Amino acid sequence: MPFLTLENVTHHYFTKDGYTKALDDISFSVKEGEFVSLLGPSGCGKSTILSIVSGIMDQTLGKVHLDNKPIDESELAIGYMLQQDYLFPWKTILDNVLIGPKIQENIHVDLKEKAVELLNEVGLKNVENQYPSSLSGGMRQRVALVRTLITDPKILLLDEPFSALDFQTKLKLEDLVYKLLHAYHKTAILVTHDIGEAIAMSDRIIVMSANPGKIAKTFEVPIELRNEMPFLVRRHPKYQSIFDKVWEELNKNDTENV
Ligand SMILES: Nc1ncnc2c1ncn2[C@@H]1O[C@H](COP(=O)(O)OP(=O)(O)OP(=O)(O)O)[C@@H](O)[C@H]1O
Ligand SMILES: [Mg+2]
Repeated sequence: MPFLTLENVTHHYFTKDGYTKALDDISFSVKEGEFVSLLGPSGCGKSTILSIVSGIMDQTLGKVHLDNKPIDESELAIGYMLQQDYLFPWKTILDNVLIGPKIQENIHVDLKEKAVELLNEVGLKNVENQYPSSLSGGMRQRVALVRTLITDPKILLLDEPFSALDFQTKLKLEDLVYKLLHAYHKTAILVTHDIGEAIAMSDRIIVMSANPGKIAKTFEVPIELRNEMPFLVRRHPKYQSIFDKVWEELNKNDTENV
């Protein structure tokens, strides 16, 4: 049964000079526990889709439902993780992690314990009282992940969360996020420019084209790859053939010649 559905979603951004049609008739659904990636050229509307699903922005036309309710009536917690970690430099790691519950006035001792547990689970020990400036980029992004998970979101929206990291850190974080999201049976949408990352992490890949943003093609990732950790997927014998198909689809829609 679909958990999230987008039905004929179209979005226009209005500016003083007119408007941009960012999304044109987007329809897809995501099942509970499924991991879906959005892949496509810059400006094809990937972040716009996440903003709409998060409820930050209303679509111009079409319907978005989460757990059978229109998104603006849903009370399910949604987690949003971005390319930059947006940690507050003047707050400790623990206070940064607890920022969401604090806004919801929902802080209790158990939650502090849970925060420390989750920090340990992502490999961050004894960092609670440190400040973001003393952590590396990869560590900060792991703090951002814990901050996203602490509210127990029913769906995670990940907008290029690894793209500012060095390659080695990115590969390690892919494995970590994959492991955690599967362990907690989370539903997720990942936006990425990296075909390998999309294949390594997802059950399904939605390739988009731009001007206006549309769905070009959807690829199911073969089951053998879905069950492997991301790092191992890239070495799997079936990896190259799906990579080539996705690559071909992206190039078909690429109007710029290098
Ligand atoms: N606030 C805004 N006002 C006006 N136009 C916008 C706004 N945000 C996005 N757009 C336009 O909408 C389109 C889709 O933008 P969006 O940021 O969703 O693309 P994207 O696929 O996330 O791109 P990228 O890969 O570069 O992050 C683009 O043409 C962009 O210029
Ligand atoms: Mg974007």
